[in-house]
Amino acid sequence: MPITLDKKNLRFTLKTDNTMYVMEMLYGKFPVHLYYGKKTIKKDFPNSNAGVAFQAYYEEHGEEFYPDSRTMEYPFYGSGDFRAAALKLRNGNTGGDTTLFTYKKARKLKGRVDIPGVPCADADENTETLELTLVDEFTKCELRLYYTVFPESDVISRYFVLENKGKTELSIEKCMSLCLDIQRSGFDVISFYGSHCHERKYQRTPTAHGLQSIYSRRGASSHQLNPFMMLVDSKATEEKGEAYGFNFCHSGNFLNEVEVSAYALKERTRVLVGLGQECFKWLLKPGEKFESPEAIVSYSDKGIGQVSRNMHKFIRNHIVPKEPYANRPVVLNSWEAFYFDIDAKLMVDFAKEAAKYNMDMLVMDDGWFGARVNDRAGLGDWFENKDRFPEGLKPFAEEVKAQGVKFGIWIEPEMVNPDSDLFRAHPEWIQKTPGYDPLLWRTQYVLDMANPEVVQYLKDSFSKTFKDVPIDYFKWDMNRHLTTVYSNALPPERQGEASYRHMLGVYELFRWLRELYPNAMIENCSGGGGRYDLGMMKYSTQIWTSDRTDPKWRTIIQHGSTFGYPTSTMSCHVAHVQDCRNPRFLDYRFRVAMNGPIGYELNVLDLEDSIKQTMKKQVGEYRQYEDLILRGDFYRLLNPVTDDMRYAYYFVNDDNSQILMTYLQNEGDPKQEKYKLKVSRADRNATYVDKINGGTYTGAELRAGIIVESDTEQQYSKMFWFCKE
Ligand code: DGJ
Repeated sequence: MPITLDKKNLRFTLKTDNTMYVMEMLYGKFPVHLYYGKKTIKKDFPNSNAGVAFQAYYEEHGEEFYPDSRTMEYPFYGSGDFRAAALKLRNGNTGGDTTLFTYKKARKLKGRVDIPGVPCADADENTETLELTLVDEFTKCELRLYYTVFPESDVISRYFVLENKGKTELSIEKCMSLCLDIQRSGFDVISFYGSHCHERKYQRTPTAHGLQSIYSRRGASSHQLNPFMMLVDSKATEEKGEAYGFNFCHSGNFLNEVEVSAYALKERTRVLVGLGQECFKWLLKPGEKFESPEAIVSYSDKGIGQVSRNMHKFIRNHIVPKEPYANRPVVLNSWEAFYFDIDAKLMVDFAKEAAKYNMDMLVMDDGWFGARVNDRAGLGDWFENKDRFPEGLKPFAEEVKAQGVKFGIWIEPEMVNPDSDLFRAHPEWIQKTPGYDPLLWRTQYVLDMANPEVVQYLKDSFSKTFKDVPIDYFKWDMNRHLTTVYSNALPPERQGEASYRHMLGVYELFRWLRELYPNAMIENCSGGGGRYDLGMMKYSTQIWTSDRTDPKWRTIIQHGSTFGYPTSTMSCHVAHVQDCRNPRFLDYRFRVAMNGPIGYELNVLDLEDSIKQTMKKQVGEYRQYEDLILRGDFYRLLNPVTDDMRYAYYFVNDDNSQILMTYLQNEGDPKQEKYKLKVSRADRNATYVDKINGGTYTGAELRAGIIVESDTEQQYSKMFWFCKE
């Protein structure tokens, strides 16, 4: 039973397989947070004031309750808690922004409450939800807080519905889905920063007194800072110590805040995750309700790696689409092979090659539609380029499939080039604030997806062009961020909603495409991995990790991506034709790619036969390990950011009978440093045979560590496949 409601004492407890979360309605009114940590039989969770004086208090409760110095469930602005608020509302009549939401009732529900139009986690038979209803008596606004418990992955999600049941117009000025107050400090924040071609670089910084924030104001979750973040004990390691992971099921702007407050008696740490305040405002008229996106948290006392594995399990079980591709296609993609220079004949020849090497799919990337022969024209004109595809898309796709491979196609629905029929017909459909020129980026503008007419246009043009075309896979790209954000479909007083409503329009189109092509898989992409987030994963089985395919930087990007996301979502390609001519480099690129579902992105037509044969062998080898890579538990061993650019990890299956361990080293090392790689999941008394290098080990030996010596030559890798005898 994940949720217990002790209605007498107004104490509510949520349990996952390994964790427990406890809250209490203090004085029957104030939801205070008592405990979040490993499961315990303890019943006493002290939560006294952390400060002694110079604090605000309610006269009726005296100085026993200082809102600012307690751990709170959901802090609002203006009523004595001076830390960052989760919710700030402005009253349209008075102009005031104080609210006081107090407890009214609680109930538990089987499963979850869906958030219409918003991607959220799927419930299963073990999922339960606590609904906590609070009311602000002055405005009669009702706040329903939801806590959904996913026991097997040790994840709790948070979202809310705010319903204006009064007569006053309200405006949401700050909107956070999740708050977690912790009764101590002494944490580090692990976050993932970067830029185009350098996504999700690991960084670990000590928290400091005051506020630290991780955010995007770009209208996309972004390459710059990923919404996944960890708060870990300052001594925590991959295998030991307390760690929390946070994420947000949304692909647009977000704000994560970490605030450390000092009081006379105790320190406190507050974490908030949500839409924030700078790029989001929402008008809530009487009778209207607002449903927030979902945020998640997971805790473990068994180190950083365990929180990652909780996230992996949660995403695989509750976020990514299950079907149609449990196993992923090995794709041959045209982008790094030909860029925009493609046509029907070339693509059919390319497909023939893909089939020869047992690859599963040809993906025709950018360049097939409108006047799109470079990045300066055609976006928005979703009909095939007749010069390049004279017979039309349908016979072309059928010919590709006749070669024995599936067919995938690239689209970038949210964008338009100024040089396009669409823009010429509808210049008012782009994001442009009146009085200001729109900014270009890769010669393109962003369509106003908050406008239902725009979404409808896209649906109509894709349905027409793709009618009866046998498409198995879409690569959905998005190659710029949002500027001069504005929607012509909204009145001036609702313009603060434009970028959030834009995302809702994008999600609407995703859902429509999935319904139109229920058997096709979507691979998400945004100039590489610029929308590597839970919102996109809800509709996309995998995400193109980065436009950086050079293995040196790629290992850093892949390593960072594994903290919050399963390797099964991390699309990895072997690319760059020149380097692949060198067998050593081709082999290294393949080993680097085998951190996730693999593909190839190079002009195979131009390669010598021996290289082609090697690629065919590689595809076979990947198939051998695929189950571990897509479904195994993942353990990081060496961190390329802190371990001198060495990356090592292993996958292990449920019963520990198969372990696939990889060591990667991009630069040559004259010192031939030695690394001890410990396989903590090996069964101590079992015997394992290494099916790649030979050799037999006891589980105890694997747990104690295998020594790997770095190589003097660059681009060196070593793999081990330990199988129980
Ligand atoms: C950016 C993507 O990341 C690339 O893989 C490729 O699809 C190009 N866009 C096409 O324009």
